[in-house]
Amino acid sequence: MKILSRALVALLICSASGALAAPAMQNVNARTGLTLNGKWHVIVDPYENGFYNYRRDAFDAVPQPTGGYFLDRKPADRSELIEYDFDSSPTLMVPGDWNSQDDKLFWYEGTVWYRTTFDFAPKAGARQFLHFGGANYQADVYLNGAKLGRHVGGFTPFEFEVTGKLKATGNSVVVKVDNARHADAVPTVNTDWWNYGGITRDVTLVETPALLIRNYRVQLGKGSTSRIEASVQLDGARARADVALEIPALRIKAHAASDADGVARFELPARGLKLWSPGAPQLYDVRISIAGSDAVADRIGFRSIAVRGTDILVNGQPAFLRGISLHEENPLRGGRAYSVDDARLLLGWAKELGCNFVRLAHYPHNEYMARVADEMGLMLWEEVPVYWTIQWQNPETLANATNQLTELIERDRNRASVIVWSVANETPVSEPRTKFLKALVDTARALDDTRLVSAAMEVHVDPADGNHRIVDDPFGAYTDLLSFNQYIGWYDGLPDKLKNIRWTFGYDKPVLISEFGADALQGKHGDRLTRFSEEYQEDLYRQTLAMLEKIPQWRGTTPWILTDFRSPRRPLPNIQDGWNRKGLIGENGVKKKAFFVLQDFYRSRR
Ligand code: GCU
Repeated sequence: MKILSRALVALLICSASGALAAPAMQNVNARTGLTLNGKWHVIVDPYENGFYNYRRDAFDAVPQPTGGYFLDRKPADRSELIEYDFDSSPTLMVPGDWNSQDDKLFWYEGTVWYRTTFDFAPKAGARQFLHFGGANYQADVYLNGAKLGRHVGGFTPFEFEVTGKLKATGNSVVVKVDNARHADAVPTVNTDWWNYGGITRDVTLVETPALLIRNYRVQLGKGSTSRIEASVQLDGARARADVALEIPALRIKAHAASDADGVARFELPARGLKLWSPGAPQLYDVRISIAGSDAVADRIGFRSIAVRGTDILVNGQPAFLRGISLHEENPLRGGRAYSVDDARLLLGWAKELGCNFVRLAHYPHNEYMARVADEMGLMLWEEVPVYWTIQWQNPETLANATNQLTELIERDRNRASVIVWSVANETPVSEPRTKFLKALVDTARALDDTRLVSAAMEVHVDPADGNHRIVDDPFGAYTDLLSFNQYIGWYDGLPDKLKNIRWTFGYDKPVLISEFGADALQGKHGDRLTRFSEEYQEDLYRQTLAMLEKIPQWRGTTPWILTDFRSPRRPLPNIQDGWNRKGLIGENGVKKKAFFVLQDFYRSRR
């Protein structure tokens, strides 16, 4: 935790200048505050006209009428010219992407200005923070015309302290969201998912005491199932704050003094602890408090996860990961998933499939997914969007990926359901790429040495034998799992090819097939060689599972994918129509034949 607190202090110093968003506090829903969810007025601004606060010349203190949307101004009198007005502009719901809310924005990539107003009476001596669950891709945030800062990265939380900057009435928050793709970004310009833009997650004005609990880690000590370790990072820390940690069901109430970095540490015997597992997702009420100041309640499960040779151990017992991959998309409503109900719909389908594991591809999903998975007893693979052809030699790109990974781990480090941090997906092997990914692994392990680290790695074909597949990606030396995607029978020949495939692995590690699958239009039928038919997909699942069962060190899979999802790369008329059809469930919520093949297989592996 020492490393984190120095990094965190550095980030906090930066954030004071408004240059960076402060690392977001955890568990915001457990705090008092004002939700800013709801209808925000918006201005679509493809030319970023509103970004620049034009001035005719040095003598003209008034911004030009066409600029400065962030000022959210009204004409001072009937003669003043201002060419924007949020109050009479259209609205969009927050949270939510703009693509699925307005057909005119379905394909839109660029800037949309959002604005909301609110009244607020700050408590004396309290602090206030403007907290965003996420906004894709870059957000510039203004309060009452003044810039608070910028956040880059479309899928992780961020916040800005606004203590002393609020008015009793008529506060204006303006957010410039830009989802334009860039080669040096994370992800880069090419992805197989829809580039949903907007304020896609909850927005909250959080109020805390002057001395607050910024984040905390409460977990079993590495390798232990009877010792709880905790560390609590304070913000605004006095030298020696008295921090209490309570877990009533375990009859734990412990105290520790914070140190010079504002960190309080605990090591506690956990007598009578019921471990969290997919079959028994036991959660405990945990309360952390500072005498006479802040207090936060959470519900936390305790479990251990490890690898031993080629086995994955959950609470010390070998486990087989009966998984499925999914995107953060509610196919029935269309658009980005963002709510508890969305999480329950998607993870409910995974439970119905017989899963104990879900791969949240290819970017951090909203926080409700991990919290609902905690309750349902689903283990999770969480991932940052280091996807395909990232700019491996660009230091800013690495800093961006590192920041997104850090923000994800800080947000979800207390979720028992999360067992894997994944740092990449399908990235072409090169020395700069492996160095980049190794740096991310080092970051993940420095922040959290209790979970597994992996990525979807590369496979290559033996030049001497087309049926011989070799997984010896150099990056595999640094991960706990040997995970990779393979599409034999879809992109690589026909399903009968699967009968003759043999595998060689360069590492004695647990093998996890992080993707396999085939497109099928729900309701299209034909024989098993008819592309895009349910029968083709069904046969590919049968033959792929038969091939995988022959792999001695096979320990799980997350087939691609739970439901059809939107992608600009899938234009085939009357079949894809802008959807990737590898879902086991159509966007209409109807299950395809392959769903039941996998469900039967998972029943046999329970
Ligand atoms: C790749 C990639 C997915 C993509 C899938 C496909 O493996 O990881 O993001 O959607 O293949 O082609 O359907």
